Amino acid sequence: MIGVDVTFPALFSPGRIGPVEIRNRVLKSPQSTATSNPDGTVTQRTVNHYRRLGEGGVGLVMLEYSHVDDDASKAIHNQLGNSRREHVAGLGWVADEVHSTGAKVGLQIAHGGRQKFLGTAPIKSATDSSWSDIEDQYGVVPTPMTIDEIDGVVTAFGQAAARAHAARFDIVEVHAGHGYLITNFLSPHTNWRDDEYGGSFENRARLLLRIVDEIRASVPRAFPLSIRLSVSDYEPDGIPIDETVTLARLLEEHGVDVLHCSGGHHAGLEWEVSPWYQVRTPHRWGWEAIKAAVTIPVIASGSIVDPETAEDIVASGSADFVSLGRPMLADPDWVAKAQSGRVLEITPCIRCNDGCLHRGLNQGRSAGCSVNPSVTEEGRFPIELAPSPREVAVVGGGPAGLKAAAILHDRGHTVTIHEPGELGGALAHANGFEVKRDLSALVRHLVHEVARRGITVVPEFATAESLCAGGAETVVIATGAVPRKPHFPISGEHRILHAGDVRSVDVPRGDVVVIGGGLQGCEAALRLAETGSAKVTIVEQGPRILANDEVFTDRERLPLFLDAASVEIRTAAAVTAIDEAGVHVRSDAGEDVLNANTVVLALGRANDESRLAADLRDRGVAVSVIGSAERPGRVFDAIHSAFFTARQV
Ligand SMILES: Cc1cc2nc3c(=O)[nH]c(=O)nc-3n(C[C@H](O)[C@H](O)[C@H](O)COP(=O)(O)O)c2cc1C
Ligand code: SF4
Repeated sequence: MIGVDVTFPALFSPGRIGPVEIRNRVLKSPQSTATSNPDGTVTQRTVNHYRRLGEGGVGLVMLEYSHVDDDASKAIHNQLGNSRREHVAGLGWVADEVHSTGAKVGLQIAHGGRQKFLGTAPIKSATDSSWSDIEDQYGVVPTPMTIDEIDGVVTAFGQAAARAHAARFDIVEVHAGHGYLITNFLSPHTNWRDDEYGGSFENRARLLLRIVDEIRASVPRAFPLSIRLSVSDYEPDGIPIDETVTLARLLEEHGVDVLHCSGGHHAGLEWEVSPWYQVRTPHRWGWEAIKAAVTIPVIASGSIVDPETAEDIVASGSADFVSLGRPMLADPDWVAKAQSGRVLEITPCIRCNDGCLHRGLNQGRSAGCSVNPSVTEEGRFPIELAPSPREVAVVGGGPAGLKAAAILHDRGHTVTIHEPGELGGALAHANGFEVKRDLSALVRHLVHEVARRGITVVPEFATAESLCAGGAETVVIATGAVPRKPHFPISGEHRILHAGDVRSVDVPRGDVVVIGGGLQGCEAALRLAETGSAKVTIVEQGPRILANDEVFTDRERLPLFLDAASVEIRTAAAVTAIDEAGVHVRSDAGEDVLNANTVVLALGRANDESRLAADLRDRGVAVSVIGSAERPGRVFDAIHSAFFTARQV
């Protein structure tokens, strides 16, 4: 475990991009907050968000993508605008506020291309290559850009860069990755034009190089230019790394000052915004190939979650800077905490894509975060001392209970946690599994936050009597949910486990049948498959797995990982019984029996119908029920309900 003397010397040494000195090697990755006004002008929320990031100690805050024209470049609701001179005042307001924190600040400029999430015509791209998500939802397909339109976009990028300079930014970054317009031209996956912008690599790179030349002609040479690239779009017919390396060399020759290396596009989000079941730093191989080919600095990006990895990247020369997106939505003080050796105090991003994307941008909201309810609402929900501090008992040591206890303590209450089992609650199963390392990190953090505050943990089952006898004036019930009961008969000698009881210390071996193809069943199957000692089959009675309100990246991409892990999936198959013979399954094809050394039940979770709350209320004790004890949910629900309840007690 990391001690308090860790300082990460390479990470926190100053760096330089062009003539701009940066106080350390950490960037905030550009991330759409969708906090601007509909006309693209910034709001107080935009300013608060970026200033807060600067206050957290990051070296350079790269603002989210801003649209460069009022034609087809705007991709998303409430996007930051940089298409008109009247945007400059607000952009300068953000730049000044970030500068006041000692951080440098950059602005990303972009054209949405075929990934115009708004779904409104016109959608413009290299060709009519459509992204199915938008076509299916809105029925709009891209129109191939004419030469005049291409000329217009080149001019628009130049003017947008000049506005960034006028607004006192330290650097401007062109978004040439992630499947937006410039990638649509770069990638053979989406570009089959037969003019001077399609076909050969030279032709596909022409748009980007023209944009670079236009920007260089529009701003002083001392104003650094960054290009954000996908090292590859990871499509079989897409951008190969040798083309990206050649492109990187050309960009350096054309006067680019730094290359910001990401990967993937929206049709393959397991690369672009890699979820918990994807490896960390998935693009390392790519940025290292680029770093070896250029002399300008390289920024590494994507799932750099912890300071140890970030330090290793910079110290080993793998890249010159690291950029963190979601980890800084999760904790804007990531840098300050890492720099002072308080690593376990960092609230880790769990790579769930729930708050930021699934319930955030994807639902037309601003970006949020499962583990940080204050993101894009900075300053709105302060933790203040309670007017009359009380004895508060928190019953349950899962994520909701641990989070609530820490906040209640900070508000001046005297807090005890009552937990007869393991701290971590429904997340305790994550411990020891590689595929669940992000959740394990969250549990470690939450437990650390309770421990460093000296909060007493009573390792006993709490009753209304014991809590009242202990002097509790207020009780927060965070006992979690209980597994749903099976609706089929069970007999025989099989080992039967609930999904949450599959632990790394005693992993089932041989034939394992997981009943239930929701998130619980799928993640249990991945954990089992990781050990290499179990042959796993998921049985799901519905027509497909992950068919409920799972996070969209899980719904769309997790099946690929189950497939890669050789997990067999039986859908439209209802379990009718478990007996000596095995697991009886009925489907349209008839009835068959699956061998099973172990059966894992993943039938969902229900509210705990314990009488604790009612008994306490009968005794006149103030009670709040939070997390899955109130309504079964995900980490987002647990942390948010804990946060908002604990602020009120
Ligand atoms: C909510 C959200 C918004 C994003 N917006 C942008 C953006 O405006 N420009 C960009 O280049 N990348 C954007 N990205 C991608 C991130 O910059 C980053 O590459 C990605 O999240 C993976 O890095 P991370 O693991 O550090 O978060 C966005 C990602 C998320 C989750
Ligand atoms: S919502 Fe999840 S993935 Fe997004 S920043 Fe927060 S913890 Fe990370």
